[in-house]
Amino acid sequence: MELGLKNKTALVLGASRGLGAAIARGLAEEGVTVHAAARNTSAISAWASELPRTAGAVIPLQFDLSDIDSVNKAVQLLVAAGGVDILVNNSGGPPPAAAIDAKRTDWLNHFETMAANIFHLTTSLLPGMREKRWGRIISIASSGVEQPIARLALSNGIRSALIGWSKTLAAEVALDGVTVNVLLPGRIHTQRVDELDAAAASRSAKSVEEIAAESAAGIPAGRYGRPEEFAAVAVFLASEPASYVTGSKIRVDGGAIRSV
Ligand SMILES: NC(=O)c1ccc[n+]([C@@H]2O[C@H](COP(=O)([O-])OP(=O)(O)OC[C@H]3O[C@@H](n4cnc5c(N)ncnc54)[C@H](OP(=O)(O)O)[C@@H]3O)[C@@H](O)[C@H]2O)c1
Repeated sequence: MELGLKNKTALVLGASRGLGAAIARGLAEEGVTVHAAARNTSAISAWASELPRTAGAVIPLQFDLSDIDSVNKAVQLLVAAGGVDILVNNSGGPPPAAAIDAKRTDWLNHFETMAANIFHLTTSLLPGMREKRWGRIISIASSGVEQPIARLALSNGIRSALIGWSKTLAAEVALDGVTVNVLLPGRIHTQRVDELDAAAASRSAKSVEEIAAESAAGIPAGRYGRPEEFAAVAVFLASEPASYVTGSKIRVDGGAIRSV
C-alpha cells in the first residue's frame, strides 16, 4: 500500500523513547520529515542516528510540555518553518494515585501538561493544516479510558478529557481534510512499562519477571505489544489511505479491553 507520506512533515511529542520514539521512527522510515520533541534531545539524536539513509530527516526539538513558554516557543518555530501536516500528541504518564487520594493540585498540574497544553499546541498548529486542506492529529491516551485501571485515577480521568476534546475537534475540522483520532495502548513493552512492573514487584514478594508474566497472561494475545506494532497503527492513521478515519479511538491492546 502506498502511504503517501513522502514530503510530509510531522511533530511527534514525547519522542525520546517508548511509543513516541517508535512512531517518530516509523514516520521517518516512510520519508516524513519529523520534528521529534522531548526534554532529552540527546536520546532522540541517538535513535535517529540508527535510521536508514533513505529515511526522512529527524530534527530533535527541545521541549517541555509542562512549560507553556516552551510550548509557545515550539509553536512559533514550527509555524515559521511552514507548519506541520501530522501532529502526534503524546506525553509522559502521570504517577499512580487512587481516586480517593489524588489532590486538587495533582489534577490541575497534570491536566495542564497532559491536556490543556496539548489542546493549545494543537489549535495553534491547526490553521496551517486547514489552509493546506490536509492534516492528521493523532493523540495517545490509554486503554484506561475504556476500562479504568485501578490506582491510575489521574490517567483515567485526564485522558478521558482528551477523548472528549478529540471527538469534538474531529467534527469541527472534517470538512478541511483534517482527521483527528486517538490511539489506546494496552500494555506495550516500553521502558515505562518495565519501570511500572519493577515498581509493582517492589511492592510485592514477586520478581519483575513474575509480575510481567502475570500481566501478559491477562492479555488475550498472551504477551505485551511491541512498540513497532503500536507505531504501525499510528503511521497508517497518518497516511493518505486513512483519510476517512476520523473521530475514532482505536485500541492497540492485544484484546486486553474486555468490552466490545
Ligand atoms: N506503554 C504502554 O503500554 C502505555 C499504556 C497506556 C498508556 N500509555 C501512555 O502513553 C504515553 C507514552 O507511553 P510510553 O510507554 O512511551 O512512556 P515513556 O516511555 O515514559 O515515554 C514518555 C515520553 O514522554 C516524554 N515526556 C515526559 N514528560 C515530558 C514533558 N514534560 N515534556 C515533554 N516530553 C515529556 C518523555 O521524554 P523526556 O523525558 O525526554 O521529556 C518520553 O519521550 C504515556 O503517557 C503513557 O502513560 C502507555
